Amino acid sequence: MCGIVGYIGRQDAYPILIKGLQRLEYRGYDSAGVALINPDNKLNVYKAKGKVADLEYNASSKDTSGTIGIAHTRWATHGEPNDVNAHPHYSQSENLALIHNGIIENYMVIKQELIRNGYTFKSSTDTEVLVHFIEYIKKTNKVDLCRAVQLAMGEIIGAYAIAIIDKNDPDQIIAARKSSPLVIGIGEDEFFLASDATPIIEYTPRVIYIKDEEIAVIRRNKPIRILNMRDIEQTPEIKTLEMNLTQFEKGGYPHFMIKEINEQPRTIVDCIRGRINIEATDVILSGVLDNKERFENARRIIIVACGTSWHAALIGEHLIEDLCRIPVEVEYASEFRYRNPVIDKDDIVIAISQSGETADTLAAMELAKSKGAFIYGICNVVGSSIARGTDAGSYVHVGPEIGVASTKAFTGQVMVLSMMALTMAKQRKTITDELYKSLIKELIIIPEKMKKVLELNETIRDLSKIFTYAHNFIYLGRGYNYPAALEGALKLKEISYIHAEGYPAAEMKHGPIALIDAEMPVVAIATTDSIYEKTISNIQEIKARKGRVIALVTEGDDVVCNIADYCIEVPKTLEYFAPLISAIPLQLLAYYIAVNKGCNVDQPRNLAKSVTVE
Ligand code: F6R
Repeated sequence: MCGIVGYIGRQDAYPILIKGLQRLEYRGYDSAGVALINPDNKLNVYKAKGKVADLEYNASSKDTSGTIGIAHTRWATHGEPNDVNAHPHYSQSENLALIHNGIIENYMVIKQELIRNGYTFKSSTDTEVLVHFIEYIKKTNKVDLCRAVQLAMGEIIGAYAIAIIDKNDPDQIIAARKSSPLVIGIGEDEFFLASDATPIIEYTPRVIYIKDEEIAVIRRNKPIRILNMRDIEQTPEIKTLEMNLTQFEKGGYPHFMIKEINEQPRTIVDCIRGRINIEATDVILSGVLDNKERFENARRIIIVACGTSWHAALIGEHLIEDLCRIPVEVEYASEFRYRNPVIDKDDIVIAISQSGETADTLAAMELAKSKGAFIYGICNVVGSSIARGTDAGSYVHVGPEIGVASTKAFTGQVMVLSMMALTMAKQRKTITDELYKSLIKELIIIPEKMKKVLELNETIRDLSKIFTYAHNFIYLGRGYNYPAALEGALKLKEISYIHAEGYPAAEMKHGPIALIDAEMPVVAIATTDSIYEKTISNIQEIKARKGRVIALVTEGDDVVCNIADYCIEVPKTLEYFAPLISAIPLQLLAYYIAVNKGCNVDQPRNLAKSVTVE
């Protein structure tokens, strides 16, 4: 979603800001802009609909000098994507420029008040309202910019991260946040600002994460000051980033998505490192073990998540109910937060989020917390808002995921849920020692099996050519593979814009089977498991109606291969872990179909990596 970059120091700000925006492109956006204060204290703002390259083109013949600036990639919420609505926005006097991530919910009320006071607006955005409002407060209260931002924050409702500069004070950036992340990088005589650490990492590992309702005063050649809304000085907490730049680059692959698909055998090793002992006899998941009593006494588990993370949650439901005999409910975070859910203090609420910043998941988690539940987080981004807000949790540890369509984070989430289920099952004595050990033995060889699945790359690339121009797809699965079918369908629609639906295979006959004809490709996941025979019958039903079946089967399965039109054979694994294997060919299929269609695989239209608005 929207991205923020800022720079103040001794170097030219423009190239640093542009590079920062490029590093944030993965978040998804529809326009970009930059504001710079030049050496004559002129505040220049340049904006463009489209990509960062369009912004560069627009600014190419203009004055881009200055050692202070802010820049933004926008994902439209209020007003269509165009040059005018792009950020930064000037204040009425054009002395201030502001960039903003998030939403100001009461912007209409404030706008009316400003209009009554003679303010006029060029854009349809809530951001322009905010910058005018800050200027209005600054003038009417005769306060400095920092205080004006503090006072504005007291009035506005919503979730936001902002950065603002003033041409009359070219040595300062003011930044503030509420429920939307902001990081300051500390270099030698220079500071960097960004909505995540990606644009900062190549300059410095030393960062400060601004906390909720804090304001940062970033002044040239002065120590950073952090204040809260009541103007009380806070001690900045400097952290050292443990990422490196290569993690953010494509490493020879044409897209981040295919790089990330191929990384999975290694990211799963990273995910289990230190959590399964060398003898492969025990799982040591500290987040669960440190809260032994909570997990032993849990009467119910509720999992809240969105999108791909929600699909991982459905697999978690199977694992936990199967192995731990605790009832599990999986909820869309966006629905959960607006119900009046019954939550007990003995409930455990698990929030799953790759980014750790998804607004709906964050709000669902806060709601559950306010009702006394114990909150467990499964996040990938270290230090993210959800990770910080939980009582305990497990990081996924799969490294930065840059492709907008989630791949390695999904398998990482499923792996963490598998380890959680095993840890809880052992504690609650709902698993035999024999089954416990055999499941661990299988878990640690999943990365090797993933490597074998990735050898199917060429086969799937060839297969994708047959289906590039399909208009619809159906994905079927049962049991553990039903969420895998949902995830396969989501991957395809996200990046290739082909309409695709996932169904439990047996549910077809209750309606969706009417869609089947010779034009309808059906991906059927039919790996050998306890309901394998039933799935075969469902495939027969599709074939009887002339559907074109692409079957995902266990190696050597001639039965299904003889029924299906096309067959993808994957290594055998236990039913519990089937989605860890079946996810990969479906990721590859979606990827190659999208590439064949010439789609922007890493930044699909209308999508954002981190959905920080409702
Ligand atoms: C799908 C995808 C989205 C996210 C969803 C939740 O490829 O990326 O569906 O899974 O927006 O995001 P997180 O996991 O960051 O909360």
